[in-house]
Amino acid sequence: MFWNSLAAVALLGQSVSAQNMLRFACSQLTVERADPLVTPGLNPAPHTHQIIGGNSFNLTMEPGKYDPPAKSTCTSCTYSEDFSNYWTASLYFQSPENGTFQRVPQYANFGLQQDGGMTVYYMPYSAKNGKMTAFKPGFRMIAGDPTSKVNNRVSICHRCLGNGEGFAPCDAKDTGELPTKYCPSGIRATIIFPSCWDGVNLDSPDHKSHVAYSNRGGLGSPTCPSSHPVAIPQVMYEIMWDTGRYKNNAWYGNGKQPFVYSFGDATGYGQHGDYLFGWEGDSLQKAMDALPTGRCANANCSVLKIQSGRDSMTCKKAQQVVEDVGGSGKWIRELPGGAQVTH
Ligand SMILES: *[C@@H]1O[C@H](CO)[C@@H](O)[C@H](O)[C@H]1NC(C)=O
Ligand SMILES: *[C@@H]1O[C@H](CO)[C@@H](O)[C@H](O)[C@H]1NC(C)=O
Ligand SMILES: *[C@@H]1O[C@H](CO)[C@@H](O)[C@H](O)[C@H]1NC(C)=O
Repeated sequence: MFWNSLAAVALLGQSVSAQNMLRFACSQLTVERADPLVTPGLNPAPHTHQIIGGNSFNLTMEPGKYDPPAKSTCTSCTYSEDFSNYWTASLYFQSPENGTFQRVPQYANFGLQQDGGMTVYYMPYSAKNGKMTAFKPGFRMIAGDPTSKVNNRVSICHRCLGNGEGFAPCDAKDTGELPTKYCPSGIRATIIFPSCWDGVNLDSPDHKSHVAYSNRGGLGSPTCPSSHPVAIPQVMYEIMWDTGRYKNNAWYGNGKQPFVYSFGDATGYGQHGDYLFGWEGDSLQKAMDALPTGRCANANCSVLKIQSGRDSMTCKKAQQVVEDVGGSGKWIRELPGGAQVTH
């Protein structure tokens, strides 16, 4: 559910002038086993990702050399100056009856027009006096960890929709794990990135240590740690999985549920997101500067160029790693890359 940003911010005790944020749709660009951040150049990468943003997405995107705004000819995002790439693991249904897999379809988030993909947020939770420093060309980062076996609900969470909703993202009504009950309106997966930066490095060997959370994970506060003093926009992804179509009481309950992420994780703790900055020129900085003025909010930021839902939905990229990833209702015998399912 789209949460009321004004009330959510008030709840977190922040100033009302910091309430505006960007919230916009990016449709599916491609679904394939590619990961230019963790396994650059590797074809195929270990597991399937769903990828959105600029169509210059590639197996190798060297920081400082590969310039997404210059190389892209379209973006699947609402804001047509945003050629960033955003990606996350795909979700599969595994039939409890015969063990075969089907990639779970997605639906558009509330109030948005999109063909799969994600909802992207840029939020001002760590802004100081309304100011944040936008990312620089070459910047990239990861939230979450595919090897994680622990619950980190404040940053990586799932909401069982149609069962009485929660409020702010990753609040107490959400779970770190994939819900073990049937969710009539689907599952919303949320990934919250850090909101503070060391001010120097565009990346780090683990793609994490150059950034930090201000609140031990989750939505930020204006108190960035001294090691990472620079307030950056807090990026968040929401992914709407249409799991409601998999309705059979026998598949759920007593710790059971039939979904598994593309890397074999059926707990959900390993859900993760990758971010590779690619806004044109200073467009993101302009938008962040305009948030407190009220002229820039959600999918209607007047200092940015907006394209039609149709134009963003028609920006697609053919798979470079060509294989059947089990979409459109098709069944596959194993997860692409052959990951074993762990519960
Ligand atoms: C993507 O990478 C391949 C080589 O790996 C290269 O041939 C191609 O030109 C790249 N695409 C773009 C848009 O630069
Ligand atoms: C496997 O089970 C699913 C339902 O769980 C069914 O829709 C599908 O047709 C089955 N596939 C085979 C090959 O039996
Ligand atoms: C976007 O903002 C403009 C100016 O504030 C307003 O006129 C317009 O109705 C808004 N559009 C949407 C879709 O909210």
